[in-house]
Amino acid sequence: MPKALLLENIHPFAAQSLRDHGFDVVTMKGALGEDELIEALDGVDLLGVRSKTMVTRRVIDARPTLSAVGCFCIGTNQVDLEYAGRRGIAVFNAPYSNTRSVVELVICDIICLMRRIPAHTHHLKHGLWDKSASGSHEVRGKTLGIIGYGNIGSQLSVLAEALGMRVVFYDIEEKLALGNARRAASLNELLEQSDAVTLHVDGRKSNTGFFGEEQFGHMKQGAIFINCSRGFVADLGALKQHLESGHLSGAAVDVWPVEPKKSGDPFVTSLADEDNMVLTPHIGGSTLEAQEAIGHFVAQRLEDYWFRGSTSLSVNLPQMTVGACGAAARIAHLHENLPGVLADVNNVLGDRNINILAQSLGTQGELGYVVTDVSEKPDAEALEALRSLKGTIRMRVIG
Ligand code: NAI
Repeated sequence: MPKALLLENIHPFAAQSLRDHGFDVVTMKGALGEDELIEALDGVDLLGVRSKTMVTRRVIDARPTLSAVGCFCIGTNQVDLEYAGRRGIAVFNAPYSNTRSVVELVICDIICLMRRIPAHTHHLKHGLWDKSASGSHEVRGKTLGIIGYGNIGSQLSVLAEALGMRVVFYDIEEKLALGNARRAASLNELLEQSDAVTLHVDGRKSNTGFFGEEQFGHMKQGAIFINCSRGFVADLGALKQHLESGHLSGAAVDVWPVEPKKSGDPFVTSLADEDNMVLTPHIGGSTLEAQEAIGHFVAQRLEDYWFRGSTSLSVNLPQMTVGACGAAARIAHLHENLPGVLADVNNVLGDRNINILAQSLGTQGELGYVVTDVSEKPDAEALEALRSLKGTIRMRVIG
């Protein structure tokens, strides 16, 4: 029975799904340190982690039979991806499962800020009845400037238009404009016309300090600012100045330059005293629906890899989508991307009169992956010959 170890309180859906597929599943609530992890991985085929368990080179070397790691989250920094690939361990994550949750928070932020809900709440809490329309606006007809038109930015575009907003976006890559959204020719063009500016750029290093004094300075008088992307992208000191000067009318911040390690830790921000602010502790993607979707999505990737050899959406192996194996056996062969490996695989099979029914090859950087459906299950000698081929990293027989 194949064995799976799921750490860090992964949604129970994942354990159930793997059990339904015949895995012996052990679950643990917390993360594990390096030594504990190595010990716990004894005999384990599939590992599930969230963001806190580090799958290091040492862990990989200590447990070379581990087949795949599922990161039940968006980020994969906790795994040494390159080394895992070179040792034949597939890594998967859930890049889209919390997209909708982030988008809904941003819509909430926009409406709250344009109606000055944080300010009204503050006044009532302090015993002040301030019934006034001053500074309150409908979102209908306002311009939303989306910076970073990827998974989140583009879905936000659709929902914002459904609310009657005009959408303009800016992205460094060529992107298909959805609905009536319009691409801005430059970042400044977007900033100068947007009533709400929202950041959805990715976490590449060059985005550090991407949105600072100069960019805030180009924003429209009275506009609002939202950052639900990464904390290091925006300069909060500059934001504070533009709020205090009255240039901006409000802001929502979900992601922070330095975030506490765990829930319950203290947290201090210089923005705490500002008037019209929605401050949240990096919960853009944290909904029960997103957790369930992540559990479902990553468990399915692991199952597809285990039972079909499919590396579709793997973050470190050549991507290959293959259907269920209808043949006597499927040979999944991961190798160094050298000339002649495919021919060598086929020669081993041909020399033994094993017919190839279907074959797919994918390469990515230094890795090659070939999946071959064959008419009969190769015997031990044939398998050893395949395993011994020059460049072989890992070989699995499925079926
Ligand atoms: P994505 O990779 O699909 O989209 C990012 C887009 O930003 C790409 O189209 C890229 O070309 C563009 N981009 C990168 N740098 C840019 C720049 N300097 N100027 C303009 N465009 C730029 O990413 P996705 O899934 O849409 O996520 C967006 C951000 O949201 C990421 O930083 C991610 O870490 C964050 N996020 C935050 C969550 C939260 O809880 N607040 C939850 C999930 C994601």
